[in-house]
Amino acid sequence: MGKLAAVVLAAGQGTRMKSQLPKVLFPLAGKPILQHVVDVLNQSEVEKIIVVTGHGSQQVRDQIQGDITWLEQHPQLGTGHALFQACQELSGYSGDVLVLCGDSPLVTVETVNNLAKTHRDRAAEATILSAVVDDPTGYGRIVRGEENKVRAIVEHRDASEQQQAIREVNSGAYCFRWQSMADKLVSLDNDNSQGEYYLTDIISSVRQSGGKVEALPVSDSSEVMGINDRVQLAQAEKEMQKRIATDLMLQGVTILDPDTAWFDANVSLGQDSTVLPNTHIKGKTRVGERCIIGPDVFIEDCVLGDEVTIRNSVAEGSSIGDKTTVGPYAYIRPGCEIGSGVRIGDFVELKKTRIGDGSKVPHLSYVGDALVGSGVNIGCGVITANYDGKEKHITEIGDEAFIGCNSNLVAPLRIGKSAYVAAGSTITSDVPEGSLAIARSRQSVKEKWRRKD
Ligand code: UD1
Ligand code: CA
Repeated sequence: MGKLAAVVLAAGQGTRMKSQLPKVLFPLAGKPILQHVVDVLNQSEVEKIIVVTGHGSQQVRDQIQGDITWLEQHPQLGTGHALFQACQELSGYSGDVLVLCGDSPLVTVETVNNLAKTHRDRAAEATILSAVVDDPTGYGRIVRGEENKVRAIVEHRDASEQQQAIREVNSGAYCFRWQSMADKLVSLDNDNSQGEYYLTDIISSVRQSGGKVEALPVSDSSEVMGINDRVQLAQAEKEMQKRIATDLMLQGVTILDPDTAWFDANVSLGQDSTVLPNTHIKGKTRVGERCIIGPDVFIEDCVLGDEVTIRNSVAEGSSIGDKTTVGPYAYIRPGCEIGSGVRIGDFVELKKTRIGDGSKVPHLSYVGDALVGSGVNIGCGVITANYDGKEKHITEIGDEAFIGCNSNLVAPLRIGKSAYVAAGSTITSDVPEGSLAIARSRQSVKEKWRRKD
């Protein structure tokens, strides 16, 4: 295979999104739209990735990762003008150049490679990735002439009624033999309804100079979906979710209702895990094998062992060990390390807390900034008073300790191994190993006392 570079056009404002955020940074499956395109190119046969930015350029550069040569387009005068910005960087380049739109994230690695291969096999000067769609509204139409040869691309706004009926559309992805392109880019004009330099006009100019133009229709038309407004963003998200869920199911994950399970692009789940409805698994989350997640769960950036069960709960930035159960209605905030065989029950909030193997926090507790050993029982309604109004303090609870119901543990505090705290205590000083602390007033009973009014 000869040399192959790619230019991604991502300088447009995305006016139709009606947003402060540059369009190509909107998240799709938790990852910026443009990052999807860059990642696909990274896995393809492309050797060099150039991205043209303009609107919100710095923000885009800061947020997109990869080995990228960045170019600027100011002002943004259309897609032809955007590709023209690459002429200097690619001057003398003798290979082929793939051009992709930064707002079309559903294209796959196979399709990108196939586009380059078809372009070469057919010895074309320009090859368009096209698609036959049910609703071509908004897309450029592929106009074919005698012998079904591609003659031109006509933009929706500039198309005649007859051309508007064409259902083969331009995806905005192309492969060009670069050597002959620079001259053609210079001579594009902006004589159209938008007063822009359309890259699509290069097709008729290749044809006029006798060059060969091909169009390769993709079999799955969802791949060409471009995102111009938030309605299309939602449609693209659905499509992306369908793909992620399908992949996971084929890897051995049960998803009871793929329509209500949402996954970010980079999550992983182990074999025989089950995802129940209304569950969001986000960020860098890794779920082990035979876990049951859901219903109604939101997990972000967590690492779960095997056979973990989480239902009706939220967990963020934490690790949860094998066979631990969480919920219903638990809130695990960032920085928790929860061991194996732990039980985190209903209405429990944990923050920056380590909990050792086999410990239990079964109901109605707040445990924050705590180091809890293994085999500890934290009774119903226990809270750590970790904040004195100025600073946060640590509560340490040794292995096998028993904290009675409705106790307040006022940090900084150390409760020794196998120590007991009597129910209803407010503990303000350390409790040594093996001892019992009672910190509440003694009950008094007035017999035969009854209001006499
Ligand atoms: C474009 C194509 C259309 C195709 C559609 C596929 C043109 C003229 N039209 O239309 O045939 O069916 O994509 O989705 O090319 N951009 C720049 N600089 C600019 C203008 C745009 O970098 O000056 C970038 C945008 O950031 C975007 C991409 O080019 O990522 C496409 O631009 P957009 O305005 O969305 O073009 P469409 O109207 O969708
Ligand atoms: Ca577009």
